[in-house]
Amino acid sequence: MIKPHGSDRLKPLYVMDEKQRRELEKEALGLPSIIISSAAAANAVMLGSGYFTPLAGYMNLKDTLQVAENMHTGAGLFWPVPIVNILKDTSTIANVKRIALRDPNVEGNPVLAIQEIAAIEKATDEQIRLVAEKIFRTTDPAHPGVATFTSLGNYIVSGPIQVLNFSYFESEFPDTFRTAYHIREEMAKMGWEKVVAFQTRNPMHRAHEELCKMAKDATGADGILIHMLLGKLKEGDIPADVRDASIRKMVELYFPADTVLITGYGFDMLYAGPREAVLHAIFRQNSGCTHLIVGRDHAGVGNYYGPFDAQVIFDKEVPKGALEIEIFKADHTAWSKKLNKVVMMGQVENHGKDDFVMLSGTKVREMLSKGEPLPVEFARPEVAEILGQYYRSHVS
Ligand code: ADX
Repeated sequence: MIKPHGSDRLKPLYVMDEKQRRELEKEALGLPSIIISSAAAANAVMLGSGYFTPLAGYMNLKDTLQVAENMHTGAGLFWPVPIVNILKDTSTIANVKRIALRDPNVEGNPVLAIQEIAAIEKATDEQIRLVAEKIFRTTDPAHPGVATFTSLGNYIVSGPIQVLNFSYFESEFPDTFRTAYHIREEMAKMGWEKVVAFQTRNPMHRAHEELCKMAKDATGADGILIHMLLGKLKEGDIPADVRDASIRKMVELYFPADTVLITGYGFDMLYAGPREAVLHAIFRQNSGCTHLIVGRDHAGVGNYYGPFDAQVIFDKEVPKGALEIEIFKADHTAWSKKLNKVVMMGQVENHGKDDFVMLSGTKVREMLSKGEPLPVEFARPEVAEILGQYYRSHVS
């Protein structure tokens, strides 16, 4: 199976040994503790899951700046997005060596991880702004990722962590949440060597479905890993349980048996477009996938990124050999009225603009929120039914 990023073996920071975990949980009760941000908690879950191999914990200020600036840590590791624990106030944890990190997303704020503090450094507002600009290519506070990142605070608390649980992901999504090591195990069981990963934060519309099928055929893959984001999204995106149900229905009815693994990971959406696409590639490599599908406006939001910027970054900014996973670059897919099927727009002849129905998650959400039924060009009827039901009962 493909090697993890920057390491011969996966390095999940979850404490697997139950006895040791119980001891650490006991120790945590006596440690100074602090409620961390949802972003830092999501980082802990990803580190715990092995998705962020080979990192051992949260980055310091120097690594944060270097990763933002040139996608490398001080030690020379290729990495596209700072993995940080940023706090507004660290007065309660000054001069201590070990702290308990409390989970902001679970009632009662139980301990999620123990962190050994390497340093607490104060970033200037200018440094925070600069990092945001490099990651998101904008400092517009209306960008949801910029808004989140710039509201975390200025204190960068770095150091290795030991993860004690997977926050709300295991209990809320028991059938779907998977760690990188679980996914590797499942793929080994299926005998899959070549695997195409599909990132999504949407219920899967027809373009998504066809993209997966085309990518599998084109790469000759043994299977497809549908890997959905289960963490926080911006207002208006469709909740994970609804997406999960609609994806399961689509796979059950429209994919051959045993060709798809439906899984999810515990991370909050960054909406960082190209940089997030590179992070996506790293954690799919860590999950054992040989290919990642990157299509139109991957991990984008609004009009902050060009439609194929998330593909261009792999050619222009990712050094050769930095990643082992390959990118399946998908052209804009749309429904052809002439051929009555989803096609890659660049690959069909004798088509004008009016011969296509453009498909996008944004358009699907817009139609659903207006109470309009989704046509077959957009979604499979059984998927449309699940989404329609959700909008009728939850969205006014
Ligand atoms: S994302 O934020 O998770 O990337 P989404 O779930 O909509 O959003 O997209 C999942 C993947 O499908 C991404 O790689 C995206 O680029 C691709 N994609 C979605 N719609 C299209 C389309 N119409 N044409 C080409 N690629 C698409």
